[in-house]
Amino acid sequence: MYEKELETAVALAREAGARILEFYALEIIAEEKLGADNFSEPVTIADKTASRIIVDGLEKNFPNDAILSEEESDDAENRLLGKRVWIIDPIDGTWGFIKKDGDFGVQIGLTENGEVVVGVVYIPVHDILYFASKGKGTFRAIGGKAPERLQVSDKTNLTEMNLASSRNHRSPRMHRIIEDFGIRQEIQRGSVGLKIGLMVDRVCDLYVHLSPRTKFWDTCAPQIILEEAGGRMTDLFGFPLRYDILDVQNHNGILATNAVSHEEILLKLKPILNEFGRLRVKAKAN
Ligand code: IPD
Ligand code: CA
Ligand code: CA
Repeated sequence: MYEKELETAVALAREAGARILEFYALEIIAEEKLGADNFSEPVTIADKTASRIIVDGLEKNFPNDAILSEEESDDAENRLLGKRVWIIDPIDGTWGFIKKDGDFGVQIGLTENGEVVVGVVYIPVHDILYFASKGKGTFRAIGGKAPERLQVSDKTNLTEMNLASSRNHRSPRMHRIIEDFGIRQEIQRGSVGLKIGLMVDRVCDLYVHLSPRTKFWDTCAPQIILEEAGGRMTDLFGFPLRYDILDVQNHNGILATNAVSHEEILLKLKPILNEFGRLRVKAKAN
């Protein structure tokens, strides 16, 4: 199942990634756009070109599927009717692209009835591809090498864990979590998909994103890559992330763990979120 979907998503992520690298080699001119949450965000010609490559390729191969891409207008009516919806972040980590620090990736996910069934994250600068499909595991292919199956860490002792956190959108409140958890090391990198890559590579054991600003396209492909490697992703309150609703914003942050430590981390997070006055927000469903 999902062989053609995975093959197509991988080919399009690689094609988009190659085109993005052509722009990366030139002077980068960033414009400001209003994001889905009406906050200003940078966008470049590379984000838009990559989006066109992926959307055109998916429309050609899967004409009956709905598509949601960060850089295209959201046809919500169609998306909410669709059983299958492709969710795309043509460049996750545009700041890393603009700063030329290599921390950005192409993310393509497929949801079926609101659940992620296929995910591809491609980090073009390092030529690292992560991919997963429902029930088939998570794999990483570096350069032209054969894909290797991946499994998250099995650490349960928080003081032995490495935490992945945002390089460009790090909350100043993260230190509170690090102290309280007794975390060994914090690794700050850009892009959600890249950080999930660090988890399935066992470089990190958990990833906390306090910001309410991520959208479906930031978490969709990374989520299945984490889960098929044995990990777990929920919001900060332990609720599942949903992809079949009108509001595309993940208002309640992200908690990604190696699964075995998830419940304990949720328990430890609870009083801290309380202290921050953070209450769970209910998103608009339709
Ligand atoms: C996230 C993503 C993303 C953005 C989110 C960020 P990070 O930041 O890159 O593109 O829309 O709101 O939090 O993890 O790269 O710093
Ligand atoms: Ca993004
Ligand atoms: Ca983006």
